Amino acid sequence: MAQQVIALLPMVFLAMLSQCSPQLTPRISFPKGSPGRPLVHFYRPDICNTTTLLLSEDEDTLFVGARNAVLSLDVSQREAIVIRSKLDWSPSEKDLEQCSMKGKDMVDCPNFIRVLQFLNTTHMYACGTYAFSPRCSYLWGFDYGLQHTEELLMASHGSKPEEGRGRCPYDPYQRNTAITVDGELYTATVADYRGNRPVISRHLSEGSHVDLKLDDTLGWLEDPTFISSCFVPSEEKIYFFFSEVGREYDFIDKFVVSRVAQICTSDVGGQRTLQRRWTTFAKAHLLCQASSELPYNVVQDVIALPPPEGAPADDTLFYGIFTSQWSVNSGQSAVCAFRLRDIKETFSRNYKILNRDTLRWSTRVQEKIANPGECGLHNASDNTLRFVKENFLADDSVQPVGRSLTMVSQDQNYSHLAAQRVRAANHKDYTILFLLTESGYLHKAVLLEKGAHIIEEVQVFQQPQAVKNMQLSVSKGVVFVGTSEGVVRVPVANCSFYPSCAQCVLARDPFCGWEHAAQACVQTSLARTGLGQDVDGGDVEEACNATTPLSPRARFGPTNLTTGQTVSVTLNKVVRLRCPVTSRHARRHWERPDGRLISPDLYLQLEDGSLRFVVTLPSLGPYLCLSTENGYRQTLAAYHIEQKTAAPFLTPATSATSASATTLPAATSVGAWPKTSAEAEPRPDATSVSGTVSPPLTTEPGAMNSAAVWPRDSASRGGGERLLLAHSPSYLKELVVVSVLLALCVSALLTAALYGVRQRCRKRTAPQAGGPPGLGEREALRGEPSPRFNGKRSNGHAVLNGQANGQANGQACNTTPKGSNGHLPNTPI
Ligand SMILES: *[C@@H]1O[C@H](CO)[C@@H](O)[C@H](O)[C@H]1NC(C)=O
Ligand SMILES: *[C@@H]1O[C@H](CO)[C@@H](O)[C@H](O)[C@H]1NC(C)=O
Ligand SMILES: *[C@@H]1O[C@H](CO)[C@@H](O)[C@H](O)[C@H]1NC(C)=O
Ligand SMILES: *[C@@H]1O[C@H](CO)[C@@H](O)[C@H](O)[C@H]1NC(C)=O
Ligand SMILES: *[C@@H]1O[C@H](CO)[C@@H](O)[C@H](O)[C@H]1NC(C)=O
Ligand SMILES: *[C@@H]1O[C@H](CO)[C@@H](O)[C@H](O)[C@H]1NC(C)=O
Ligand SMILES: *[C@@H]1O[C@H](CO)[C@@H](O)[C@H](O)[C@H]1NC(C)=O
Repeated sequence: MAQQVIALLPMVFLAMLSQCSPQLTPRISFPKGSPGRPLVHFYRPDICNTTTLLLSEDEDTLFVGARNAVLSLDVSQREAIVIRSKLDWSPSEKDLEQCSMKGKDMVDCPNFIRVLQFLNTTHMYACGTYAFSPRCSYLWGFDYGLQHTEELLMASHGSKPEEGRGRCPYDPYQRNTAITVDGELYTATVADYRGNRPVISRHLSEGSHVDLKLDDTLGWLEDPTFISSCFVPSEEKIYFFFSEVGREYDFIDKFVVSRVAQICTSDVGGQRTLQRRWTTFAKAHLLCQASSELPYNVVQDVIALPPPEGAPADDTLFYGIFTSQWSVNSGQSAVCAFRLRDIKETFSRNYKILNRDTLRWSTRVQEKIANPGECGLHNASDNTLRFVKENFLADDSVQPVGRSLTMVSQDQNYSHLAAQRVRAANHKDYTILFLLTESGYLHKAVLLEKGAHIIEEVQVFQQPQAVKNMQLSVSKGVVFVGTSEGVVRVPVANCSFYPSCAQCVLARDPFCGWEHAAQACVQTSLARTGLGQDVDGGDVEEACNATTPLSPRARFGPTNLTTGQTVSVTLNKVVRLRCPVTSRHARRHWERPDGRLISPDLYLQLEDGSLRFVVTLPSLGPYLCLSTENGYRQTLAAYHIEQKTAAPFLTPATSATSASATTLPAATSVGAWPKTSAEAEPRPDATSVSGTVSPPLTTEPGAMNSAAVWPRDSASRGGGERLLLAHSPSYLKELVVVSVLLALCVSALLTAALYGVRQRCRKRTAPQAGGPPGLGEREALRGEPSPRFNGKRSNGHAVLNGQANGQANGQACNTTPKGSNGHLPNTPI
């Protein structure tokens, strides 16, 4: 009976667990300074806030907008980032005085360069916050052109730098975006000191191409946070991504929505109506939501991934990071992909109408006089332009590709991303995402059919950063991350980190494959043919072509025990055997090759995978640490424990735990039962993937055996299981009592666990279908106002969604780096 219950419970538990999406854990973690992932770091004490990055076309030069300076960095070398030139651009004493007189903190008054764009081969355009009075200037490279210049110069047209209003924010923490196309600068930023007047505008236009901006009419932009902009040449359009208040959902106080907006580069405004205003502006709701769950409604970053070669431009994908306005989802983020074709379709359908009297949006069907968002309305009639002016909010939302989330992280606030297609050894293209976390790690994820797999994480900065930036150089195979800690160059992969074919294949990194001939893990792009690689399945046996036709046990199990490290100890001392971490997705466990048991009563498997126990006569002998990952089993460490021969009065090494540990043999009585089960359960292996952690019950049979077996075992050193069977009758009564007790304990535990899981699942599921949150949710939303959201107006810094968060929750973001501590020596304590 009890056994049946026990057998059933884990299944229920697992069923509940599988309802939640699995947690994404990076397979390998490289804290800063790890030898496996050496980073090149550019830092100089006189250069701060290196956060605006611009890569030259040949990707040999990185231009950096910093505090009071624009730099040109030579990034063509692998081992170093070398500064080529530095242009100082500080506000004058008078400007700084005024800035502080306006009540601004002096540390925010320097000139933070926030716009840095190429105009043509010889000139750049830069804008900075300049003591809360933004300025812009043309820059050029003396002598050798921009890319190889030894000296960056400011080429002020006339004497004074240009006014930067509408091109650059006043507040260095306010987010903005800028892009140049054909020498014209397109910007989205706030155009006033208080940050109340958002504007999307065009500058530096010449001739009949006049500078344009968004009409100030109500409703074009509603308190937006600008995120990014992309030019799509095939459409001759620029797409802007931002979040704003979704006034069309007026039943919730401040429902934030993410938007994509578009304008045509050919736009020249209207002749009477919409003079010097966009005639091609349209916006639509970007929806990042899994059915019946709360939407991830606040966009944090968006980048474009061009279509694969030969595919139509409409297959361009926009990958975005989204977080949620609601605290139930705080600390989580989602990645959604949107197809250009879907965005175009949304803009070509119906539009919502704003009733100017009630200020309510409706979806009234009306006669379509024009197609809002269409390019080429230069000579359109006033009637057409009035229609366009009124109809700019698309009725439909843009749905993500596959109508689902590309990836969800339950425990990471992602802030920036980059994407790249990588051709694997099987000639299939895989999408790789580089995701920057608020806590300073760069995650590298590959998108597979079954979902995302995070290959690794690399720590790139230590303190949470309010403003940061990321730039991928595909040709160089590196990611640049700019923060106030400097510029860091992260190679996209280090295949030689994987010492064996199994490790190389288990990584499932499309960048890396095992070259059988060279016996090395090499870059896929550099190798010729026949690489061992299986990105989709991670099947080691197949990819590594293991030729030995032995049984799996013989092949992957303990084959060569003599290679184990010998550890000499005296009896009754506590010994700790270490097991290296090769992957956080692997489950590690210890075995004694002769079939004897590793019982949780006598042996403690610690969170770091090591094994601790008191050395007794029966515990002498060989030990193996095995790891199982993706169905593949390998030996990570082997030890041989032997008794120290002549060491009668060896002082034990300091150990606070030895006292408690030596009491372990006492735990042989049946009374140890509840303790064991309680102990076994709340010990999730920190280094293994949650979700695949074995359910608490799996350790119970072992515990049962050992409790019954120990006395015999210690006496006879015999094999465990058979002994248990032989002697079990004498323990029958105890066994029954214990079973019942155990069942009670376990069900209590499971109830607690189930409750936890249910809570988590429920948190992520809300009674809502499709569009905006439904009425039923309203109360919940009101009940838990997002701190981010409420802070929006009151505090300038909080306006920056992704960016200021890091600052606001400074310490909270500091996760402890867990990771690959190589082959540590075992330490007899
Ligand atoms: C790659 O990893 C290996 C092994 O840890 C290390 O020796 C090497 O320096 C690394 N190389 C690069 C370029 O990161
Ligand atoms: C580049 O743009 C600058 C500023 O508009 C202009 O003075 C210069 O002549 C242009 N150079 C070329 C090669 O077009
Ligand atoms: C993510 O951000 C939320 C609020 O924005 C914060 O509460 C949470 O601690 C952050 N989590 C991490 C892991 O940085
Ligand atoms: C618009 O009208 C002007 C003069 O009325 C004409 O020169 C121009 O070519 C027209 N543009 C287009 C695109 O039709
Ligand atoms: C500039 O860097 C400092 C640390 O060096 C940081 O405290 C500050 O928030 C940064 N400011 C901006 C606008 O990035
Ligand atoms: C795999 O092993 C078989 C038999 O040992 C051999 O014929 C085959 O060429 C090997 N394949 C690769 C890719 O090494
Ligand atoms: C075990 O390893 C040792 C040392 O590496 C080696 O000399 C020996 O041949 C191996 N034995 C077997 C059976 O593989």
